[in-house]
Formats: sequence, C-alpha cells, structure tokens
Amino acid sequence: MRVRVLGSAAGGGAPQWNCACPVCRDARRDGRDRTQDTVAVTGDGTAWYLLNAGPDIRTQILRTPELAPGPGLRETPLRGVLLTTAELDHTLGLLSLREAVRISVFATATVTHALTTAFPLRPMLGAYTDLDWRDMPTGVVLDGGLVAQRITVGTKRPRYAGDAPGDDWVSALRLTDTRGGSSFVYATCLPVWTPAFDVFVAGADEVLLDGTFTTDDELTRSTGRPGTAQRMGHLPMAVSRPMTARHPATRFRYGHLNNTNPSSGDDIAGDGLELFTDH
Ligand code: MLT
Ligand code: MN
Ligand code: ZN
Repeated sequence: MRVRVLGSAAGGGAPQWNCACPVCRDARRDGRDRTQDTVAVTGDGTAWYLLNAGPDIRTQILRTPELAPGPGLRETPLRGVLLTTAELDHTLGLLSLREAVRISVFATATVTHALTTAFPLRPMLGAYTDLDWRDMPTGVVLDGGLVAQRITVGTKRPRYAGDAPGDDWVSALRLTDTRGGSSFVYATCLPVWTPAFDVFVAGADEVLLDGTFTTDDELTRSTGRPGTAQRMGHLPMAVSRPMTARHPATRFRYGHLNNTNPSSGDDIAGDGLELFTDH
C-alpha cells in the first residue's frame, strides 16, 4: 500500500488568506504552505483513491506525478473518493473533479443526504460527470487489493447542514492491503478517543490523526475567536498523544493542522509526505 498526504492543513490551509496570527505570519515569511486535508491511497500503485477532496485538489493532483492522466486521453488513475465528513473542507474538491468521465464517491447515508439537500453537491456534480455514488455502511472493497473499513467517530454537523438528520457525520477509515497485509487508519476529524476507536487503530501500521489543534484553548489564545478544540470536534494533540503510547508498534502522525497550530516535528505530516516508506 502507498499513502500520500496531499494536504496537511485544516480548512483554510496554512497560511490562511485572511489570517495574520503568528503561525500564518511565519509561514508567509518563510514561504511555507500547507494545503487542505486530502490523502491519496493505492494498493497496487495503479488504482488510486482519494480520502476526501478538499478545495486544493487541483493543485494537489498536479503536484503528484502518480496521479497524472494517461495513457488514454482522459484516463486517470483516480478511481474514487471516500468521504469522512460532509464538511466544505472535505467536499468542495469534488466540484473541481467534474471533468472526470466517471467518478465513484463513497459516503455514509447521513453525509450523502446532506450533500443531496442542504448542500446539493451530488445532483450538481451528476450533471457534469458519470457519478457513481455509493453508501459506505461499515466498509467497502476497492480496486487494487484495498479494503476500507469505517467507523463513526463523531456526530458534528457541518455548519451549513442545520438540523439535517442522521448520525454518521464523522468517520474514521481503516485501509487494508489484502495482499501485503499492511493497514492505515485515517482519522483527521476525531472528537474523542473512545474504546471503539482504540480497537479500530489496534495493529495498524500507520495512522494519520487529528492534528487540528495542539491544545484545547489554542484558537482563542492565538486569534481571540471563540471555541475550544473539543467543542469543535477535534481532540487536541495534547490529549491524543498519550493515547498513542498505548500502541507502540503503530506509527502515528498528525494531519489537518489548523493555521494556528505551531507544532512541528517528526510526527507532524507535511504536504507530499509519503507514509509506509520505511515498512
Ligand atoms: C472542521 O474541521 O471542524 C470543519 O471543517 C470546520 C468548519 O469549516 O466548520
Ligand atoms: Mn476541517
Ligand atoms: Zn493564522
């Protein structure tokens, strides 16, 4: 299995266009850029899937030679997109994939309903491409020898969704290479580390975790804006780091960094990072 972090930032990217917080100022000065959370995975190196499709998807695909089209005129290695939320940050990129001849989208019934009604992305996109939209109850078999398992980790609705029905708003995914046996857990929106999530990550080789905020009060401290990390559906790294210690054989890294998050180091993913390179 190959896993490529196409974008390592939360919504808005880092720097965010209208933010002059210390982290954004430094990033602007140093020419650093994190694009918005999207990951590419493949089991066989030929059939690739996106985990979410953020607003930066076009740039991210152009930067990734493995995702270049060919040999057919409109042939692409991209087979589909697996959505873990209905957030704009994770779905707007689908609109930029409208030139596709055909595209499969996997989502929970809850997310699909929101993307059909409150934000009618599905019918809109269906007018542009041959859209194969599928339910993702607990898992799906993908091309290239991958299996994706899913659990619901949160119930936070996107702001646009009002009181839209459903429970399966926020998912974690576990991708397993059925030939090589390796596995990868993707959980960049994780409100709480439940016993069920602990079982879900157990034995995984690599995990990309929610790195939105380092501490619970980070947003307010650095921007004065209201809201704690946990109330926004994001377990702070200061809380999840001790939990990762329960799984010493698993490599944990953080993605979906908010522009206020000053963390750096070995366990912080950057754009373009390829996981599994030392397995
Ligand atoms: C999130 O990651 O919590 C959302 O994408 C934030 C938002 O845009 O409301
Ligand atoms: Mn987000
Ligand atoms: Zn900022």
